[in-house]
Amino acid sequence: MKTDNSSSRIEQDLRRRAAALAPGAALPSVRALMRDMGVGPATVQRALRQLAREGVLESFPGRGTFVAAPPALATGGDTLWQTLALGPARTGAADLLALSELPPAGAFPLHAGYLPPELRATSLLDVAAARALRQPGVWDRVPATGSAALRRWFAISIGCPEHEVIVCPGTQPALAAAFQALAAPASPVLMESPTYLGALLAARAAGLVPVPVPTDGDGVRPEPLAAALRESGARLLYLQPTHANPTGASLAPARRAAVMELARRHGLFILEDDWARDFSLAAAPPPLAADDPHGHVILLRSLTKCAAPGLRVGALRAKGAAFERLRAARVAVDFFVPAPLQETALNLLTAPSWPRHLRRLQAALRARRDALAAALRQTLGEACLDRLPTGGLHLWLRLPPEADDEAVTRAAARRQVLVSPGRAWFPAEPTEPRLRLSFAAVDPADAPTVADRIAEALREA
Ligand SMILES: Cc1ncc(COP(=O)(O)O)c(C=O)c1O
Repeated sequence: MKTDNSSSRIEQDLRRRAAALAPGAALPSVRALMRDMGVGPATVQRALRQLAREGVLESFPGRGTFVAAPPALATGGDTLWQTLALGPARTGAADLLALSELPPAGAFPLHAGYLPPELRATSLLDVAAARALRQPGVWDRVPATGSAALRRWFAISIGCPEHEVIVCPGTQPALAAAFQALAAPASPVLMESPTYLGALLAARAAGLVPVPVPTDGDGVRPEPLAAALRESGARLLYLQPTHANPTGASLAPARRAAVMELARRHGLFILEDDWARDFSLAAAPPPLAADDPHGHVILLRSLTKCAAPGLRVGALRAKGAAFERLRAARVAVDFFVPAPLQETALNLLTAPSWPRHLRRLQAALRARRDALAAALRQTLGEACLDRLPTGGLHLWLRLPPEADDEAVTRAAARRQVLVSPGRAWFPAEPTEPRLRLSFAAVDPADAPTVADRIAEALREA
């Protein structure tokens, strides 16, 4: 009891001394403290240990005892040293991170790039995943190019031989691998303007320099493309020929031949992002890769869009040395796509109910596209949309020339309508103010409310 009392008295005394000193200042030696306080060494040591446990003091054997840094710094950590270690920022992902943010309850998430929960293949996936997990050896390693059965499925769907397919964890990592594998750092890469901002980010992260090429309602324009090829010497073009994100435009048939001719003439790789094939609301032409005997086209497909965001499985198709480069780039990052995901994907894609899911999905998307487009045109005028996209998930809303897309985005968010400002989708300065809106996110019954709130936001901003 006596020891306890004197311990707490010593602890309090030490606490007072520590409070009077700056962080990092040394305390007197144990011998000096014994003398000052009139207690033995064990009592002093016990009190020092207690205060070290509380984070008030720090003891270093052989050097002494010091006042610890304040708790905020000690628990939060001081990461200022990283400023020097990291140097200037090379890429910023703020726009892509904003798109990935989960919406607060009650908001209309028109900024989304994926299907809303009610349109996803969730119950089919539950069954497919349960079957996959019952398979023996499902946690084993898988070949880096993917399971043979899933490669075969993608090969048939793309219209290419099985050995040209690599299974990937969705399109984004395949884009990162492709930009890294197909062009050396500091090389130019031709990009449609506007284009998918995740592709812009991946290209910049690989050290490439995006060169914008103008587009219109029929996709990329061949004459400026030819000029950009001559002037930049680029050997890589990122292209979305079918239902481009964000514009919804598809490459017109006559332009497809012109683009492939340019690729042959200039020795050009085309990175064909075929992300929206399953969202076609009218007959879509086959991918450019379906008629590419000489290996100019690297095709990217994904199941995250048409099934659910968590089914991070996709594929790329490439020929020749490019295939080998891509295989190396992929394995350098994450070896292979886990078998449970590959097996789940295969079970889903080969289930008799999968084509039914796609048909139902397309009908729902058509109804949502028509309802939101009609409500917007009624509220904002016919000219707010160039044309109805024949697929994809988005409308590319035109704002009045003097509007500030970011201010409108903020004003819409205050009204619980989340949208994506158009400027983030341009490789360089935006040519006009736009908003990207996911029509897939809006139930047709809510379309007038959403259109009204966007109109209010526009007036406010
Ligand atoms: C055009 C386009 N390509 C690729 C991706 C990446 O998709 P994921 O990595 O989920 O397959 C997206 C996602 O929004 C996209 O819009």
